[in-house]
Amino acid sequence: MCGIVGAWLNQGGAEDIADVLIEGLRTLEYRGYDSSGIGVLRTDIGSSSSAENVKVARRQGRLENLEEVLKDGSLKGANVGVGHTRWATHGEPSDENAHPHTDGSNHIALVHNGIIENYLELRRELEADGVVFASETDTEVLTHLVGREYAKSGDLGGSLRASLRRVKGYYAVSVVGNMNGATELACARQGPPLCVATLENGAMLASDVLAVLPHTREVTYLVDGDLAILKPGEVVIETIAGEAGESVEREVTVIDWDTEAAGKSGYEHFMLKEIFEQSEVLGRAIHDRLLPTVGDVAFEGDGWTDPELNGIGRVQILACGTALHAGIVARYLIEGLARIPVEVDYASEYRYCDPVVSPGTLAVAISQSGETADTLAAMRLAQELGAQAMAICNVQGSTLTRDCGRTILTHAGPEIGVASTKAFTAQLIAAYLFALRLGRARGTIDETEGRKMIEELRHLRPKLEGLLTTDYSDHIRKIAKRHLDAKGFLFLGRGVNYPIALEGALKLKEISYVHAEGYAAGEMKHGPIALIEPALTTLVINTKGRVSDKVRSAIEQVKARKGPVIALGSDPLSAELGDDVIDVPTSSEWLSPILNVVPLQLFSYHFADLKGCDIDKPRNLAKSVTVE
Ligand code: G6P
Repeated sequence: MCGIVGAWLNQGGAEDIADVLIEGLRTLEYRGYDSSGIGVLRTDIGSSSSAENVKVARRQGRLENLEEVLKDGSLKGANVGVGHTRWATHGEPSDENAHPHTDGSNHIALVHNGIIENYLELRRELEADGVVFASETDTEVLTHLVGREYAKSGDLGGSLRASLRRVKGYYAVSVVGNMNGATELACARQGPPLCVATLENGAMLASDVLAVLPHTREVTYLVDGDLAILKPGEVVIETIAGEAGESVEREVTVIDWDTEAAGKSGYEHFMLKEIFEQSEVLGRAIHDRLLPTVGDVAFEGDGWTDPELNGIGRVQILACGTALHAGIVARYLIEGLARIPVEVDYASEYRYCDPVVSPGTLAVAISQSGETADTLAAMRLAQELGAQAMAICNVQGSTLTRDCGRTILTHAGPEIGVASTKAFTAQLIAAYLFALRLGRARGTIDETEGRKMIEELRHLRPKLEGLLTTDYSDHIRKIAKRHLDAKGFLFLGRGVNYPIALEGALKLKEISYVHAEGYAAGEMKHGPIALIEPALTTLVINTKGRVSDKVRSAIEQVKARKGPVIALGSDPLSAELGDDVIDVPTSSEWLSPILNVVPLQLFSYHFADLKGCDIDKPRNLAKSVTVE
């Protein structure tokens, strides 16, 4: 959903600002990748005065296109600037619509993530004032508003504040400007994420800490309504509201991700690297949380007390995309283990079903990024209606974790591949731990059973490692190759593995653009069975356990209609029926989704790779969807 970055480094350092901005944009490309651009200028050594206007380079397409343009060196030697990677909302991807936008006189360059809802009326007003627009974007409207104010006042922060107060919508915005020889860099937030950081010899801002991590681990997240003015060695945060803005203090968060984790480490794609990281993720997600002697778990920080957990009468899960599938698994776990009724809703639908929140409801938002607009909005509504809030989230300090307070961090580390993999397994682990904690507190799981569950979790890691081998991956690639010409896929699962069928289908369509549907195995006979034919492959997930006989009969029904079947799971009898077989080690049924999803991720990866798709940047998608 667009990535923005801005930086100001004191002259005299080894770094060129264009390189710093490009390096930052590379880490933000997951947020959008249909065009990119930077706007830079140079100040005099050690001061904030400059004789220059802003210079801008923008290009449609991937970041490489912009880098190609920059090879002419025309933007070299600058030390302050802003950059942007775009996911188009207003106006198709093109050089003209790419950010930064300028005010026509190149006194400012502005980048924006979000939507200006009243842009049309503002555009008409500006056009009546003689402004000529060079793009179709809503962002250019804001740029001209700021430019007009700045020309009058020569105060960029004040001009941004005054302009934003006229804007309806949501934004993370940054602007660099130079007027009468004085340079300024400012940013503001209302909705999409933005963090700022003071560097020893500079200052930075970005949509995601990933862009700042190579420079510092200490960042400050802006909250909605904040406006920051950056100078080398100094970041001042004020409110957007009020004529002059009030100064505000925001706490500094120390990020413990290592910068290596944001690289590909020799893998061809981030997705593959992240799939292969999943056993380490499991290790991190359970580290220091298991209490084997009493068969319980403890979460760090603001933990729950037993009476609090006993007071929960109902759980409402809210999430989108892959995180929603983790939420459906969580429903099976919490109902099955802790005997609390659970509802799971698409966060995007929750607000429109006039939800009823009964006393004792705990709303649980699940999100990798903690910035998904639909999830944030649904959670705020649940809280307004009286629910207690908890987040299962990967990004410490994200808006969701701040909104909810109570958070189970998933500890997956930075996930860059747009198709979520390790963040999903980490969410499943968090859900398992929470269900166990709930069950122990409420007495639905006794100490012996709790110990057994912990033992099973500890035994999961070697099993997971067994799936993360080149041989296993190659075996799946061969199967993917055999089904490359299938005209579509049906993924079936039942019980706690039904959501894994949904996730398998989502993964495949996200990155290979092949039609795939996930279904509860028992529902196949009520409709999707009409699709079965030799050209449609059915992938059936069947774990040895309570429902394996039932799932097996779905396989028989597909085979009776000459549909090819890939049998995946630990049920040996299903393996006998499958045309192709993907074995998964046995585990407790509750943990089986964590194992079963891994070969499905590998299947999608290899299928898309064999089709020549751009795996880490699938068409039309963005990893963090900060618009509703
Ligand atoms: C987008 C991504 C999905 C992701 C969903 C929720 O749609 O493309 O991969 O599952 O957002 O993201 P979140 O960060 O809230 O987990």
